[in-house]
Amino acid sequence: MGFSDTNTNMRVQSRWCFTSGILLGLTLIIAFAFSPTGAYDPLDPNGNITIKWDIMSWTPDGYLAVVTINNFQQYRHIQSPGWTLGWTWAKKEVIWSMVGAQTTEQGDCSKYKGNIPHCCNKNPTVVDLLPGTPYNQQIANCCKGGVIASWAQDPVNAVSAFQVSVGNAGTTNTTVRLPKNFTLKAPGPGYTCGPAKKVRASKFLTTDGRRVTQALMTWNITCTYSQFLAQKTPSCCVSLTSFYNDTIVPCPACTCGCQNNITQPGTCVESDSPVLPSLLNTSPKNLAPLIQCTPHMCPIKIHWHVKLNYKEYWRVKVTITNFNYRMNYTQWNIVVQHPNFDNVTQLFSFNYKPLTPYGKINDTAMLWGVKYYNDMLMQAGEMGNVQSELLFQKDKQTFTFKQGWGFPRRVYFNGDDCVLPPPDAYPWLPNGSPSPRVGKVFLLIVSLVVSACLLAFL
Ligand SMILES: *[C@@H]1O[C@H](CO)[C@@H](O)[C@H](O)[C@H]1NC(C)=O
Ligand SMILES: *[C@@H]1O[C@H](CO)[C@@H](O)[C@H](O)[C@H]1NC(C)=O
Ligand SMILES: *[C@@H]1O[C@H](CO)[C@@H](O)[C@H](O)[C@H]1NC(C)=O
Ligand SMILES: *[C@@H]1O[C@H](CO)[C@@H](O)[C@H](O)[C@H]1NC(C)=O
Ligand SMILES: *[C@@H]1O[C@H](CO)[C@@H](O)[C@H](O)[C@H]1NC(C)=O
Ligand SMILES: *[C@@H]1O[C@H](CO)[C@@H](O)[C@H](O)[C@H]1NC(C)=O
Ligand SMILES: *[C@@H]1O[C@H](CO)[C@@H](O)[C@H](O)[C@H]1NC(C)=O
Ligand SMILES: *[C@@H]1O[C@H](CO)[C@@H](O)[C@H](O)[C@H]1NC(C)=O
Ligand SMILES: *[C@@H]1O[C@H](CO)[C@@H](O)[C@H](O)[C@H]1NC(C)=O
Repeated sequence: MGFSDTNTNMRVQSRWCFTSGILLGLTLIIAFAFSPTGAYDPLDPNGNITIKWDIMSWTPDGYLAVVTINNFQQYRHIQSPGWTLGWTWAKKEVIWSMVGAQTTEQGDCSKYKGNIPHCCNKNPTVVDLLPGTPYNQQIANCCKGGVIASWAQDPVNAVSAFQVSVGNAGTTNTTVRLPKNFTLKAPGPGYTCGPAKKVRASKFLTTDGRRVTQALMTWNITCTYSQFLAQKTPSCCVSLTSFYNDTIVPCPACTCGCQNNITQPGTCVESDSPVLPSLLNTSPKNLAPLIQCTPHMCPIKIHWHVKLNYKEYWRVKVTITNFNYRMNYTQWNIVVQHPNFDNVTQLFSFNYKPLTPYGKINDTAMLWGVKYYNDMLMQAGEMGNVQSELLFQKDKQTFTFKQGWGFPRRVYFNGDDCVLPPPDAYPWLPNGSPSPRVGKVFLLIVSLVVSACLLAFL
């Protein structure tokens, strides 16, 4: 045993440690980049809401602008009570008037005599008008109570717009100042908006389609969503069953909170509680969630049942249940990731659209209700669920019921990540072996690499 031998050994080992270190690092980076809590959503990497500010004409003391909110997110919509948009004026601008929207406060306009502005606040907060607004107070795409559909579900209604007449502002493209600090609420937190940027002026086609007009100046503001900013706890969970195993794998306990009668009495309500009707018929209407007591305490549960096995096909039943007594989910949607979605053959009573953000990988589906049939997921109670069956054609190479393959990899409800049971709890095939828990295997590999490296250098 010579000295050089040990040296070579050390070199080989340190190279091995270096390589595995890099590999581990990469794995960790990927794991973090794909974590659903960040602003980046792996299933909708380009999703955003863009606010477009088009100056249509100059006025004696400012300008007239049309502000358009476009939702480019595949499956995240804004439901009632709708969006709120705020910003900070750069100088001493005021809003003379608005069409198709209004500010929530007028602010202090005491400096004005005669013609009083609509809003004198430095930080105006704007909301959409309600449906039924008289036609002479409307512009195209306004007055939907702040509701905006998602891009994949209803691109025609994935937009909202209003007109604003700004005074005390610049009156040329060199003196006008962009408002700052845009905030978009939907209606709660979750969106972060970037700075306004000057972009190529928008073009508009006249209604007869024979002439194109152009804005004098256009600014864009891009807002992105983060579930982490929106809420601290998850809002939905997944439970699983199969025809080949009697076990019901429930939502993990306390997924969305814990039932705690001692420290927080009244956090949930039993379905047979005598006080339930009085909690629902409050005046004015209370919008705070009122959740039916369950071990998981989630407002939404998605149940995936592997129902039948045919020679060439297999069938799944999906049920979405609402446990919130104070919420009707209009235009609800779910997004499900499962490797067999490239071969989904039939879907009953749900609309389907494949989502393929990475080109060829066709394993993600967006599902939503059929208009006027089940596009509204009703409040908790007898009617509070919707269901569908999916028929998949088997791919002989990959199909198996082993190791929980028949269950979804990821599920979203209205764009929020749902908590799945741990993989080692999935129903087994009789005599099957459970799939190893990824976390444990990963930890084992990490500790093996670390200890091997330590040993090599000791
Ligand atoms: C916003 O979304 C649109 C449509 O997906 C995309 O083309 C654009 O690049 C996005 N903008 C940003 C800043 O991500
Ligand atoms: C500005 O936003 C509009 C939609 O609101 C979009 O069509 C356009 O591509 C955006 N421009 C830039 C440069 O991002
Ligand atoms: C203002 O408009 C003029 C004439 O249309 C143009 O040449 C100039 O680049 C514009 N300036 C800015 C800051 O947009
Ligand atoms: C905009 O927000 C940033 C950070 O919240 C703050 O520092 C800045 O003063 C705000 N600007 C205006 C004009 O309110
Ligand atoms: C909470 O209280 C309700 C009614 O008083 C009761 O039915 C339920 O079992 C209690 N839950 C817990 C976790 O103690
Ligand atoms: C949900 O919709 C039903 C039927 O339209 C209505 O009776 C109920 O009040 C609604 N519930 C809520 C919480 O808005
Ligand atoms: C994905 O698979 C579905 C179901 O077979 C098919 O209808 C769809 O065209 C596929 N999409 C792409 C982009 O391959
Ligand atoms: C099902 O998958 C197989 C293998 O990937 C493929 O050859 C076949 O075309 C797919 N069938 C459909 C209907 O997409
Ligand atoms: C069903 O699956 C569970 C795991 O969720 C397992 O403990 C049980 O043994 C399985 N039952 C049969 C009959 O294999």
